[in-house]
Amino acid sequence: VLAVWHQLTKTEMPELSKGSVMMRDRRRVEETIRAMRRAGAGRLQVISDFDMTLSRFAHNGRRVPTTHNILDNRLLIDEECTIKMKELLNTYYPIEIDASRSAKEKLPHMVEWWTKVHELLIEQRIRKDMLARAVKESRTMLRDGYKAFFDGLYESRVPLLIFSAGVGDVLEEVIRQNHVFHANVHVISNYMDFDHTGVLRAFKGQLIHTFNKREGAVTQAAALSQLQGRPNVLLLGDSLGDLTMADGVSDPRHVLTVGFLNDQVEERKESYVNAFDVVLVRDETMDVPNAILRNVI
Ligand code: C5P
Ligand code: MG
Repeated sequence: VLAVWHQLTKTEMPELSKGSVMMRDRRRVEETIRAMRRAGAGRLQVISDFDMTLSRFAHNGRRVPTTHNILDNRLLIDEECTIKMKELLNTYYPIEIDASRSAKEKLPHMVEWWTKVHELLIEQRIRKDMLARAVKESRTMLRDGYKAFFDGLYESRVPLLIFSAGVGDVLEEVIRQNHVFHANVHVISNYMDFDHTGVLRAFKGQLIHTFNKREGAVTQAAALSQLQGRPNVLLLGDSLGDLTMADGVSDPRHVLTVGFLNDQVEERKESYVNAFDVVLVRDETMDVPNAILRNVI
């Protein structure tokens, strides 16, 4: 009987049998998807991280830039700043993804990283009217299947909250240039504050880094009226810190978490499988999230 049941569910969602998929409890995943389908699109919201979740981690063996790294363009910053930003990345990124340290241990280092980089960017007097060109000239790329993902949610009137510790202005430009910045998309991120001549002078609001998304969730996300009355959540992220992005949802019912495991795979596999319902190992596509959504809405 079990074998038959498995076959049935397999044909229902063949994507879950992809080699890149790992699940602690497949049965629970399928039950959650069924419960979400019964409740319908009107009860669903999608909360997603941006860098290395909606955008690709790598393409043809080369890293794809994050929103911060898109700013590494001579139109915006000088060579010295590029070098300093690289040094900071080399210092702090290994800490961000270190499997042997807790989020609590990482937190002060992340604050330091983001604060230093934002100070450097402000010194560079970045011009707002150059951002679109920098995005165009960058190698930024969304994951394969991104169009079906964004368009499908828009057509089904399911809100998509993009919750990013990257740079909001750059993020918006990336999705605009990919023609998927639809009306159902809401963004919480670090936004630049420009003076009246269009020169960067500060970052707005509370700093968001990889390990304080909970605070943004309970203050900013919880206040978004478009997300009210939608207790079912599909959450997508690539960092364990992303799991707190749904902490602002009031009375959550069915929450399904999907984690992209891009880097330090062997070291982090166990913790990701324990923390996310579905783990996608070195999977540069939206195939699995899209299959889940096709099933639910
Ligand atoms: O959108 P998301 O929350 O993923 O954006 C944060 C990511 O940006 C982090 O995972 C971090 O590795 C990366 N980052 C970066 N350069 C910085 C700060 C963060 O590439 N200066
Ligand atoms: Mg990310």
